Amino acid sequence: MAKALSHVSLSCLLLLLLLSPLSSAIRNHVMAKSSPLRSFPKTQAQKLIKSFNLSPKHDINNGDVGHVMDESPMMVEKPLRLPVLGDPAGNNSIQDLGHHAGYYRLPNTVDARYVRCSTSSLNPGTITLTTLLLYGSLEAPGCGSELALFYENGPFHIANNLSLLWNEFGWDQFVKENDTSVDQPTGTGFSYSSSANDTRHDENGVSNDLYNFLQGFFKLHPQYVNNDFYITGESYAGHYIPAFASRVHQGNKAKEGIFINLKGFAIGNGLTDPIIQYPAYPDFALDMNLIQQSDYDNIESELVPPCTQAASLCGANGGDSCTNAYEVCNSIFSRILSITEFVAYFCLQYYDIRKQCVGQLCYDFSNMENLLDEQSVRDALGVGDIEYVSCSSTVYDAMITDWMRNLEVGIPALLEDGIKMLAYAGEYDLICNWLGNSNWVHAMAWSGQKDFTAASNVSFVVDGAEKGVMKSYGPLTFLKVHDAGHLVPMDQPKAALEMLRRWTQGSL
Ligand SMILES: *[C@@H]1O[C@H](CO)[C@@H](O)[C@H](O)[C@H]1NC(C)=O
Ligand SMILES: *[C@@H]1O[C@H](CO)[C@@H](O)[C@H](O)[C@H]1NC(C)=O
Ligand SMILES: *[C@@H]1O[C@H](CO)[C@@H](O)[C@H](O)[C@H]1NC(C)=O
Ligand SMILES: *[C@@H]1O[C@H](CO)[C@@H](O)[C@H](O)[C@H]1NC(C)=O
Ligand SMILES: *[C@@H]1O[C@H](CO)[C@@H](O)[C@H](O)[C@H]1NC(C)=O
Repeated sequence: MAKALSHVSLSCLLLLLLLSPLSSAIRNHVMAKSSPLRSFPKTQAQKLIKSFNLSPKHDINNGDVGHVMDESPMMVEKPLRLPVLGDPAGNNSIQDLGHHAGYYRLPNTVDARYVRCSTSSLNPGTITLTTLLLYGSLEAPGCGSELALFYENGPFHIANNLSLLWNEFGWDQFVKENDTSVDQPTGTGFSYSSSANDTRHDENGVSNDLYNFLQGFFKLHPQYVNNDFYITGESYAGHYIPAFASRVHQGNKAKEGIFINLKGFAIGNGLTDPIIQYPAYPDFALDMNLIQQSDYDNIESELVPPCTQAASLCGANGGDSCTNAYEVCNSIFSRILSITEFVAYFCLQYYDIRKQCVGQLCYDFSNMENLLDEQSVRDALGVGDIEYVSCSSTVYDAMITDWMRNLEVGIPALLEDGIKMLAYAGEYDLICNWLGNSNWVHAMAWSGQKDFTAASNVSFVVDGAEKGVMKSYGPLTFLKVHDAGHLVPMDQPKAALEMLRRWTQGSL
């Protein structure tokens, strides 16, 4: 039981990040203060990493590798050439689809670089747009984008013998120019810095880095500047995305740099507004028969009020009060897991309640790590000596006071200016369940709130079958996806691709 519990709060932790009003100076001060809670997040992160069967060789990508690109220009790019199985000649390499990988040196940092991968389809007749996929699945602050890239919506999957296989439903399919993913925050995946000063502690830091990265990308590729630009991601990206979309919008309004043609952002099973989403756990668990009415009543009276209170203190004060709120609120989640384990004698897979974890293992992503550790792959990516850090417990820990922050606050301003938002959620995910997401989306105050609330549900139909239930008004859409857990594009690849296609084309 203890195992399951720690598992849970661990992944919960991972999910959230936030736009913090605190300056990084205050933040650093807070982080440095000793507190009995300080070792907790890191332990949680290490357990999470184990539950994915990952074993990164480093805690964070920094230090020894700084020499590799010291003389590099702002952006280094090269075509990707990796063998991909699937066509008879075996000649269908990534390069044929115009894929590139590169490093970008971030301004306003001591020495930070983001690695990015871009994929694009030569499919004629597709619309022209650029998406930035902030893959955030399962991840916390601290896991690289490749989890989603290889296991969800990227152009390839990894076979057990580490061959790459085409993903028929990769999200690059209809994106003509160009689909980009980055490892972020600095220190995760292949992104690195030699200076601890570049480690980020809040959404201000993260979204500034992303904004600067994007400016660099468009400077290098001015031909894409007029493309429609969309941001998508999942899970903890429910924190990253609203902050980043607001940052882009703000930069556009202030004519700060190159104008970015931001059209919309999509969040899948995200953690966005914890003060609403945490109290939804017992409601969802009761609806799904994970707990009994008496358990529900106990959680409602004992655990929900302290969580709500702690989360508001975090909103008001930031810093340590947010670490405290993280602990207090995650006891709701832990309690539910302990009940399910006690009653049913099984370890609930909280990313998909139809499944079970096996021992500590919830997913096995080890192939990804093995593949990206291969020298030939690192050469193809042009990352030199840098070793892949699948998940960084140091980055996770550094972001911990961001977890309980409410990121919904920036969204109304985006909707009012006609920037579209799609919130989608697989119906069997517990950790970022659809109910909590539906609740915050409905509670959000904006000029279309009444009409959105009054709008009727419509079926989301793919190939004649209902794949979800959807509600829209103006720029806002909420979609509950059937037969899916936390990883919608993994569980419902075709429906997820259709969702993205219709949404970006305005026909969802
Ligand atoms: C595959 O690529 C190799 C090397 O570029 C070339 O020699 C070969 O003819 C190609 N095979 C086919 C069937 O196109
Ligand atoms: C974008 O895609 C086009 C093909 O559509 C390709 O030629 C180009 O190199 C790609 N650009 C980047 C930056 O990857
Ligand atoms: C690797 O696995 C794939 C998919 O199972 C298979 O098609 C391919 O032949 C295998 N390659 C080798 C070298 O065994
Ligand atoms: C890192 O930050 C500290 C504290 O603000 C500062 O004293 C130091 O000079 C910085 N290091 C670099 C390399 O900028
Ligand atoms: C719309 O769908 C949601 C999710 O399935 C459901 O909770 C809600 O009750 C539905 N609303 C109406 C008016 O049927």
